[in-house]
Amino acid sequence: MAVLPIVKYGDPLLRKKAERVIDVQTVPGLLDDMFETMYEEAGMGLAANQVGLDMNFAIIDISHEDEGEFPHIIINPEILESSGSDDLEEGCLSIPEIRATISRPEEVLVEYQDPTGETHREQFNGLLARVIQHEVDHLNGVFYIDHLTPVKRAMINKRLAEIAETGAPSTGITL
Ligand code: NI
Repeated sequence: MAVLPIVKYGDPLLRKKAERVIDVQTVPGLLDDMFETMYEEAGMGLAANQVGLDMNFAIIDISHEDEGEFPHIIINPEILESSGSDDLEEGCLSIPEIRATISRPEEVLVEYQDPTGETHREQFNGLLARVIQHEVDHLNGVFYIDHLTPVKRAMINKRLAEIAETGAPSTGITL
C-alpha cells in the first residue's frame, strides 16, 4: 500500500467531469491506496480525481465521527433528488488550510454502483449526505468553495492562487 500525492486546486484534472467507470473491476485494485491516503490525510472522503485518476468514483468514511458508520465506495454516483438545507463547515484535501461554512441540502437520494457492479439507489442524510455531495461535486469538476458567495470567495482568491502555485497558502482561514 502507498499514500498517494493529493492533486491540489489549480490542476485542470479537478475542473473536468471525471470519466465514467465502464469496467467496475478496475476499481478494487485502487482502493487500498486510496483508503490509506484518505486516512493518512485525515479526510472523510476522497474522489479518484484527487489522486490523479480520471475515474468517476469516490470513497467515504465518517466512522470516526459516527460509530455506527462504515466505509462507502460510490462508483458513477448521481444525485437524483435532494431536500432540506443545512449549514456545515467544510474543508478539502485539495484546498489545504481553508475551511468554510457551506449551505447544502440535508438529504439526498443517490444512485451509484458498488465494486461488484450492482446498482444502488440509497437515501443519505446528515454528515454522510454532506460528504457525498462534496465528493460528487469533485467528480463533476466542482469545489465546495464554488458554493460561496462572491464576497466570501473574494476573501480566499489570493490563497487559492497560492495553492495553485505552491500547493499551500501562506496563511489559513476559516470562513
Ligand atoms: Ni474535497
